[in-house]
Amino acid sequence: MIREAKKTDAFEIADVHVSTWRHSYRGIMPQTYLDALCSETRSKSWGSRIEDPNTYIKVYTVGDVICGFIAGGVCRDENLAGFDEIYAVYVLPGNQRNGVGLALTMAFLDEHPNSCSLWVLADNISAVKFYRSVGFHPDGHTKKITIDGKELEEHRYIRLSPNNREHKTRR
Ligand SMILES: CC(C)(COP(=O)(O)OP(=O)(O)OC[C@H]1O[C@@H](n2cnc3c(N)ncnc32)[C@H](O)[C@@H]1OP(=O)(O)O)[C@@H](O)C(=O)NCCC(=O)NCCS
Repeated sequence: MIREAKKTDAFEIADVHVSTWRHSYRGIMPQTYLDALCSETRSKSWGSRIEDPNTYIKVYTVGDVICGFIAGGVCRDENLAGFDEIYAVYVLPGNQRNGVGLALTMAFLDEHPNSCSLWVLADNISAVKFYRSVGFHPDGHTKKITIDGKELEEHRYIRLSPNNREHKTRR
């Protein structure tokens, strides 16, 4: 079942975030960084985001347990005016490839009919395949981020709404 996130979900959301990062980013992000991730610390920032009316956060539950979530809102990139953005979508490793990510993403896209963007690590091949399967494609914009001294490349992906097929981004 998909429902809106509540303030009391903050720790569980943070735990999904941390567990998923540890599993999916092993070998991509520095191990020292992954080992140091802390659900308790992350739950504070997730608590603030849940309370922020401009941030959309929905969770996917099985029984009472949160096994995935999506966060999004207005696109943060200045050269994509009018776009929405998926900020994060994470599914617990044991629940992946069961349609959870797809259900969360389609819920977001149904409620956000504008064109949509997201940033994904270039090395996160499975996420890239997932995003391509739901209609996103790279628009050529890249950025470098540095995590614990390791430089990583992110690629921007977009999905145009039917009424924005002529879109060209400014570089
Ligand atoms: C990426 C992620 C959100 C996808 O969610 P999911 O629940 O595992 O994916 P779904 O089961 O909904 O997949 C839907 C479709 O996407 C495609 N897909 C998803 N994962 C894929 C993979 N690893 N390889 C190839 N195709 C994939 C398939 O077409 C799939 O349909 P199918 O299973 O019928 O073939 C999830 O795997 C995840 O949390 N990964 C780790 C964290 C992450 O990378 N998040 C994105 C950060 S930018």
